[in-house]
Amino acid sequence: MTRSIRPLVAGNWKMNGLKADLAIAAEVAKGYDIGLKSAVDIAICPPASLVYPASAALIGARIATGGQDCSTQASGAFTGEVSAAMLADAGAAFVIVGHSERRTLHGETNATVKAKAQAAQQALLVPIVCVGETKGEREAGKAIAVVKKQLRGSVPDGATAATLVVAYEPVWAIGTGLTPTAADVAEMHEAIRAELGRMLGKAAAAGVRLLYGGSVKPSNAAELMTVAHVDGALVGGASLKAEDFLAIARACA
Ligand code: 13P
Repeated sequence: MTRSIRPLVAGNWKMNGLKADLAIAAEVAKGYDIGLKSAVDIAICPPASLVYPASAALIGARIATGGQDCSTQASGAFTGEVSAAMLADAGAAFVIVGHSERRTLHGETNATVKAKAQAAQQALLVPIVCVGETKGEREAGKAIAVVKKQLRGSVPDGATAATLVVAYEPVWAIGTGLTPTAADVAEMHEAIRAELGRMLGKAAAAGVRLLYGGSVKPSNAAELMTVAHVDGALVGGASLKAEDFLAIARACA
């Protein structure tokens, strides 16, 4: 953790969730008590179809919502795309961009991710820019170089602590139950902070929230959060269980 930074725990529901599952969000809201509110920000990123009802349901509890992706374009003939402005209009404060599932399954390049992050900022959404190496890249000793290159290519110029969140999600840790060692997370998050410093200036970089994501669970969250420069978590599977998501938020508080 970074003492001066208020941590953020964001839940990425991925392509899960029908209206009935708003009950999960309601349960999270119930558990987000004064103690937790004073210590940690929570965001829920449901599928696009639920951003509006989730935002309406959560606003009173001061829980933010986010999209999971947005278009590079502001509007127009882009069938099937959702713009950042639409997400903002639906109540979102954040949008995840460059998730490894988008990079891998939809061929998103760093340039695409940067354009999406810029579109988000233009709509006054805070992009959660995801970076992370594959198993092969880590085994080849290239993890830090790969992530630095992703940062250079994906983070909008001029971003500040108020307009950017970065999530380090090693691809091999997503949905696998595997996590890097605390030492590996520490090394990576320190490298990310330093690289952002070179890109954005030290003062701006010092306040950017750096989330760790990849198999975060109640059982490992506390240890991950003790690592320097880990300012919260991006949670997949465990965010679909209110009890687990809240336990992770408590570990971050
Ligand atoms: P899991 O927490 O299910 O490993 O997913 C992480 C993730 O991809 C969050 O964006």
